[in-house]
Amino acid sequence: MKVIKSIAELKTALKEERNQGRSIGFVATMGYFHEGHLSLMREAELENDIVVVSIFVNPTQFGPNEDLDSYPRDLKKDIELAESVGVDYLFTPAADEIYPPGFSTYVDIGPLASLLCGASRPNHFKGVLTVVLKLFGIVGPDGAYFGKKDYQQLTLIKKMANELNLATEVIALEIVREEDGLAMSSRNKYLNGDERRAAASLSRALMAAKRAAERGERDPKRLIEMAKSIIEKEELIDLEYITICDNISLEPKNDATGGALMALAARIGKARLIDNIEIL
Ligand code: PAJ
Repeated sequence: MKVIKSIAELKTALKEERNQGRSIGFVATMGYFHEGHLSLMREAELENDIVVVSIFVNPTQFGPNEDLDSYPRDLKKDIELAESVGVDYLFTPAADEIYPPGFSTYVDIGPLASLLCGASRPNHFKGVLTVVLKLFGIVGPDGAYFGKKDYQQLTLIKKMANELNLATEVIALEIVREEDGLAMSSRNKYLNGDERRAAASLSRALMAAKRAAERGERDPKRLIEMAKSIIEKEELIDLEYITICDNISLEPKNDATGGALMALAARIGKARLIDNIEIL
């Protein structure tokens, strides 16, 4: 595995791979790998000749009072893990390589950016889409692999790829969870023992709502109330939102039938966690 920091160097190496007729799979990350990240790399590996992974804690997607400085980092371990799943190129640019002085071009996403997590993180998705578009420009991947854990992010990236006619296919993969159901996240590291135990109620609530929907309860209000009652038993959890929306438009839905998504965000101690479940 080659670890490369420079855009020019990575582009030259990948041009050579492409000239050899090799397909390129890509996984964008902010590092501090867990099984969720590794599942994307493994799938990219299965479907492509070459796998490129980026690690970049993207400053433009963090708000002024968010955790940019404290975001967990462990490059040494990430290099070992990436190597163990057969990644070919690990791209680890510095901030000024991605955003040189004078940088001023951003992706404008439109109204979807202010729904769900966008309500409390106004510039977050603008930062995400800008960096993803830049990374697609640098890597030129055939396929790019994203997790459903960040469902709104995935939806917006798919929409961008479609509406801007990008050559990359965006592939969505399932959420990888801990044994008790908690969605894996680099930010779970912020949780202490009690917070970690309380955090399991988020996925428990989503799964209970999904089961109720499968048994025939299709009223989003009642499903949301049911999920809330499970989460609100945990005093350490401060629920930011919980909603049932359309899994493509992300607009609120009046009945939890085909293509509904239940999504939530919550604060627990220093962590802001998100999770979701598809209700089909
Ligand atoms: P990061 O949080 O590091 O996540 C990188 C990728 O891993 C995303 O596609 C995310 O959805 C996926 N992922 C995270 N946890 C997962 C889980 N438990 N199961 C499955 N997939 C999971 O998302 C970002 O970084 C950034 O916003 C980025 C896209 C890299 C842009 O900066």
